[in-house]
Amino acid sequence: MISLAIERYLRFLRDKETDTAKFRWASDNLAQLLCAEALAKLPHATVEINTPVGTTTGPEIDVDLMVVPIYRAGQSLVQPFLAVVPGTPVGSLLIQRNEETAEPKLFYEKLPNPLPEYAVILDPMLATAGSAVMAVQVLKQAGYPSEKIHFLGVVASQVGYERLASLIPETNITLAAIDPELNEQKYIVPGLGDYGDRYFGA
Ligand code: PRP
Ligand code: URA
Repeated sequence: MISLAIERYLRFLRDKETDTAKFRWASDNLAQLLCAEALAKLPHATVEINTPVGTTTGPEIDVDLMVVPIYRAGQSLVQPFLAVVPGTPVGSLLIQRNEETAEPKLFYEKLPNPLPEYAVILDPMLATAGSAVMAVQVLKQAGYPSEKIHFLGVVASQVGYERLASLIPETNITLAAIDPELNEQKYIVPGLGDYGDRYFGA
């Protein structure tokens, strides 16, 4: 469910007048809401609690998981995720798109040992989905079945979304928006431009 708060933060991210400080603020807040949405799709337990005046139940996040940010822009989603589940192990994938061809290249990978049961790939932008598909391939080679791989992003293109959804269950994909097009440079339109450049200010 896309809440008004998510749509409002996304509006700031999309606006080309938004400077780095405001972009980071909107991204960090939006990411925390999206993390909560992604976590709600993972198994959780119900625990009984005592309030000062009675008893009731509430959810406990009870899942063995890691997050795997795709460096660089995926790093922006790590701290918001850890703010919700502080002890989560963090794998690393350094995958970069070639600026001319948009083809992704894997430079470095490091996953926790032992591997947690679930993996959540973090990357705010899903354009051609080349980078995300490469990340899914790494995780499948490491032994993950599709249904235990989740993807948390901010904006996808329609074509990128469909490509990723052909590899992992659609319900495992959490996003704030799916935009209609890619331009000639394989940027999402309307999108928000280069997430990494705008978040890191470089
Ligand atoms: C961006 C983005 C994704 C990728 C999406 O990263 O963060 O990883 O492009 O495009 P795709 O779906 O077509 O693969 P980029 O390689 O530009 O690096 P950056 O994070 O350093 O900006
Ligand atoms: N990477 C981005 O940061 N933005 C896009 O629109 C596509 C790839």
